[in-house]
Amino acid sequence: MGTSLGTVVVTGAAGRIGSVVRVGLRGDAQRLVLVDRVGLAAQSPAEEVRRFDLRDAEAVTAALEGADAVVHLGGVPDEAPLPDLLEGNVLGTHNVLEGARRQGVRRVVLASSNRLTGFYPVSTTVTAEMPPRPDGLYGVSKVAVEALGRLYADKFGLSVVCLRIGSFEDAPADRRHLATWLSPRDCLGFVRAALTASDVDFAAVYAVSANTRRFWDLAAGSALGYTPVDDAEAFASRIPAEGDAAGHDPQGGAFAGAEYTLHHL
Ligand SMILES: NC(=O)c1ccc[n+]([C@@H]2O[C@H](COP(=O)([O-])OP(=O)(O)OC[C@H]3O[C@@H](n4cnc5c(N)ncnc54)[C@H](O)[C@@H]3O)[C@@H](O)[C@H]2O)c1
Repeated sequence: MGTSLGTVVVTGAAGRIGSVVRVGLRGDAQRLVLVDRVGLAAQSPAEEVRRFDLRDAEAVTAALEGADAVVHLGGVPDEAPLPDLLEGNVLGTHNVLEGARRQGVRRVVLASSNRLTGFYPVSTTVTAEMPPRPDGLYGVSKVAVEALGRLYADKFGLSVVCLRIGSFEDAPADRRHLATWLSPRDCLGFVRAALTASDVDFAAVYAVSANTRRFWDLAAGSALGYTPVDDAEAFASRIPAEGDAAGHDPQGGAFAGAEYTLHHL
């Protein structure tokens, strides 16, 4: 792929997924602008680090100057009090989209989540066209993230890809992961496709490995240009057999339990 991606801004670059994306895109981008509120050090002449909070709209817009694309990963990655989710995920995403509009950024990739549809039963194969059924307040914030992406695509002509990330882990660690695992290799594959696919106005895509037990449809990812290669089934014998979900149980598993949200209310 060479350096054909030009300048790519990665928000949340110090995080679990950001660290992998940073290394993975190193050979593909001419310049990588790494944004986080925690400190990072540049590891190559092509890297530039910017430390600020994504709630700072001016700083976001400045970081996007000259960018060809942005991979927006920064935010609150799990259930939290609603004000934190609104600031970290909804306002932060708005700042990224508005900065991208002002700076003429070609492609915006937003980190969405499988938890946006966590109340569908495990027996249902969910496609990206089906209505949201968030399994908590975090999922609600990702519904708003995707709605903002759609708004900026429809109203201002931005090209936006929302990746509904599964469970990003080096290896599956529990029974739910047998369906929801996203391997680092497949994660990079989806991110690259989201950056390089042509003729995209707006797309929402489940980013999940090719798990035999998955309950999300892969067609939107294929249309984008990536078909995952890893399968959590290869790890199934290492994970204790008890605790399999019944067909009517929510895909979100424990995340869908009332206690998981009540804790934050
Ligand atoms: N890890 C998963 O399995 C998973 C699954 C679905 C969706 N996602 C989404 O992917 C994205 C990345 O997830 P992750 O697991 O790498 O999370 P993470 O918490 O490891 O990384 C998030 C990074 O964003 C930074 N950040 C948070 N709020 C910020 C702010 N206001 N300003 C600047 N920086 C800020 C943090 O410092 C951190 O480095 C998140 O949007 C998350 O919701 C992750």
